[in-house]
Amino acid sequence: MDLALTRRTANGHPGVDHPWLNAHARRTHATGVTSFTGAPSVNHPTLPEPARRRHVRLAVLGTSAVLLGGLAFAPVAFSYAAPPKHPAAEVHKPSPVPDRVILTPTTTPATSQKVTWRAEATAEFAQAEILAAPRALGQVAPPAGAVTKVQAQASTPVNTTLGYASTYHTVEFTGLKPATRYTYRVGDGTNWSEWHDFTTAAGKFEPFSFIYYGDAQNYIDSAVPRVFRNAFADRPQAKMIVNAGDLINSANSEEEWGQWYKAAGFIDSQINNLSIPGNHEYSGGLSSFWRPQFPYPDNGPGNPELKQTVYYIDYQGVRFIGLDSNHQGNAALMAAQTAWLEKVLKDNPNKWTVVTFHHPVYSTTGTRNNPQVRDQWGPLLEKYGVDLVLQGHDHSYGRGNLVSARKSITVHNGVAYVVSVSGGKMYALNNGENWTGNGAEVRSSSQNTQLYQLIDVAGDQIRFEARYANGEHHDGFLIRKNARGERTVNELRTPENTVGEQVTVDKTEASRWDKVTATAYGYDPGERVRVHLRETRGKEAVAQHGGHGRDGVPLGEARADELGRLSYTFRMPPWVRRGSTHLVYLSSENQKITSPLITVTR
Ligand SMILES: [Fe+2]
Ligand SMILES: [Fe+2]
Repeated sequence: MDLALTRRTANGHPGVDHPWLNAHARRTHATGVTSFTGAPSVNHPTLPEPARRRHVRLAVLGTSAVLLGGLAFAPVAFSYAAPPKHPAAEVHKPSPVPDRVILTPTTTPATSQKVTWRAEATAEFAQAEILAAPRALGQVAPPAGAVTKVQAQASTPVNTTLGYASTYHTVEFTGLKPATRYTYRVGDGTNWSEWHDFTTAAGKFEPFSFIYYGDAQNYIDSAVPRVFRNAFADRPQAKMIVNAGDLINSANSEEEWGQWYKAAGFIDSQINNLSIPGNHEYSGGLSSFWRPQFPYPDNGPGNPELKQTVYYIDYQGVRFIGLDSNHQGNAALMAAQTAWLEKVLKDNPNKWTVVTFHHPVYSTTGTRNNPQVRDQWGPLLEKYGVDLVLQGHDHSYGRGNLVSARKSITVHNGVAYVVSVSGGKMYALNNGENWTGNGAEVRSSSQNTQLYQLIDVAGDQIRFEARYANGEHHDGFLIRKNARGERTVNELRTPENTVGEQVTVDKTEASRWDKVTATAYGYDPGERVRVHLRETRGKEAVAQHGGHGRDGVPLGEARADELGRLSYTFRMPPWVRRGSTHLVYLSSENQKITSPLITVTR
């Protein structure tokens, strides 16, 4: 039997290359699990049928390994039919045991919290239990009265294409204490989820981190999970996960929503999720899953179409604003959002503002262009000093700003626009044409990369970093803001941006005793900077006045301000010669940078 099987597989499928089989064959051979074909021990009539089949297969693998290793025969393929795909209806079917547990923020995140889950349960039984996070559970019962039961305020069945309804239940916990850790579970009173922890927001500004993703959308069950999990591993204490739309590919696919929840696993049960819809959450209308599973605040423009897709949340000093850019063809819904956006930007007590929507102001990809978004929302984002605009749709990475906001090669003081992608579907870049054609510039881009973004909010700065799926650094910047609301957006320092002509001077022609002001950006707050005037021929240093070294003649020292800006005014010294050329050289711990040439006129 073994020999016959071996011969059939080896000869019957000579051209089949089966890397999985080969890998297993090598392993099997190496570990000596099997005996060689024909050995009397191979056939085990006493073994039950499945075990016998396994054993036969191992024997075949062992044979193929020997053949492959010694005689370079064609690889062996299974003689069995490939196993059937496990049906999605089985993989994702609901039961009374809760799954898809996800936190969504309320307008009062210091004292309340929403949680939504899926389970086969009737509205009258769907409930949650919550208590101040105890030191132990299990054999340790919470003290009497410590656990509060809360009945679901909504239970909404969503009819799916897989032949069953997925019912989403939502509970709102209220009367919570700020900055306090709680433990909760959801269920029907008999069938419960595990216990999950979350921490309420502080009642005032406190530093915190959040995570941002561009489109997951495709390969949600294969390529996306490691992105979500690596982001969580890098920022386990993140307070918010922002999704800029296209979470899934087919708006009403129960299978894809099931995959999306599985990709994040327990992470969604302990970090608030702030999502806005992309075009893939629309199919005829908004996905029937959206509102039952994402009960976002009803504080948008008021149009029923924009309910739970346009809203804002104030969280520890950051105003998060979500917009629905899927209505660019509907003038009324765009106008309603534009008016509302201006209102929530104008009347904003928070130091920081983050706006998210799906279709980018400046596209990174191909022929894409969103003039309605750019014309209606772009000017408001700039006017009201929005810090971060987080977008998706283009399945590539692009980060930039308006050219008019540029202060130096590495620094600007405008809005930071970002497009990113977390999933496995990729589009090519178009050399930033949609940026440069509309008065903007790209400072960082990439294609064919899956990314996650970590954003750390502090009192005087926001640190933004994009990392690839494998955790390597891709791009990053620091937004610094002072008490007057002035801002600089600085590249995270890399070796490339610590050199070069980054000092600006207010004159490129000057006579002796003329005042010259040199300006530079990109320092650490308060960084000490040495200022030199260097005589050059072309750009090359020549012998310096007074026998000073190649750095030039020292003029003095200065300190960068709290935004990393430096301004230094000096007079052209009396010893400079007519027709000679000089540059300002600024040297500090973090930067060695020069100005354009200044020619001495007299
Ligand atoms: Fe997309
Ligand atoms: Fe999209």
